[in-house]
Amino acid sequence: MQTPEAFKKTLKQEVARRVRDGQLELPMLPHIAQQVLLLAQKPDASVREMANLIEQDQYIAGRLISVANSPVYYGLHEVSNVQRAIMMLGLRVVTDLIFSVSVGAKIYRNKQFEGLMNELWRHAVASAYIAQDLTQRFGGTSEHAFLCGLMHDIGKPLIVDTLTDLTKRHPEEFPAALLSDEFVREILDEFHAPVGGLVARRWKFPESLSAAIVFHHEPLQDGQVIEPALLAAVANIFSHACGLGDRDTVRDPATHPFTKAFGITAEQAARVLPELEANATMFVDAFL
Ligand SMILES: [Fe+2]
Ligand SMILES: [Fe+2]
Repeated sequence: MQTPEAFKKTLKQEVARRVRDGQLELPMLPHIAQQVLLLAQKPDASVREMANLIEQDQYIAGRLISVANSPVYYGLHEVSNVQRAIMMLGLRVVTDLIFSVSVGAKIYRNKQFEGLMNELWRHAVASAYIAQDLTQRFGGTSEHAFLCGLMHDIGKPLIVDTLTDLTKRHPEEFPAALLSDEFVREILDEFHAPVGGLVARRWKFPESLSAAIVFHHEPLQDGQVIEPALLAAVANIFSHACGLGDRDTVRDPATHPFTKAFGITAEQAARVLPELEANATMFVDAFL
């Protein structure tokens, strides 16, 4: 049996090698998300067509209706079917929600690390809400605001899967008992941005979304601002400050240089934080 230190070293090397050689087993984009995205891009897409597509998956349709009825969106009438949900929220919002629901159901699932996955999922959904909200309040050029927030840490659940898979396939070299929560987090921090980049390529994400994923921890490159990455970075900081993060260090959005670079003053940041916290929590709860 190896020492925990030797185990950590070998496992990190193995993950690094797989990232470098592009040898990670990356899942397909959930089928329904792909279909909905394609249809939403068609200029003549109709509500009926979209509803038909979503109704093919009863689980996803049910989740969509329940989110549409959450206090974040709730209008005067209760939404009882997919077609009404689309008419009330619009094709764009419905596409974002289907993406969230299907990625949550298919990607953020791992029996061995259920608690960690739930935490990552809450953080993703909260960041999506916050990215959208910040764009509406303060402007910004990012075309896919919601998805920039939702997907910024998409590398993380996939690394969790890779690690559990390694311990299952090679129990002697990588004994599951040595895979502590703490160590998994350490690996996630180190590798999630490049792994996210591999996923973005595999899923054929638009360039701006891909940049948000790869550069969300360093959105300012040689004095240049990578806009979608800056949006994801700021949404990430607010999300943590709202208590909706994985156990990353919480930094005060009001004094963070990324917040300032985004054009939000310290005063504005302090003012919107409680409101964002209330709304993002409500939004996350709608997905449970
Ligand atoms: Fe991150
Ligand atoms: Fe994050």
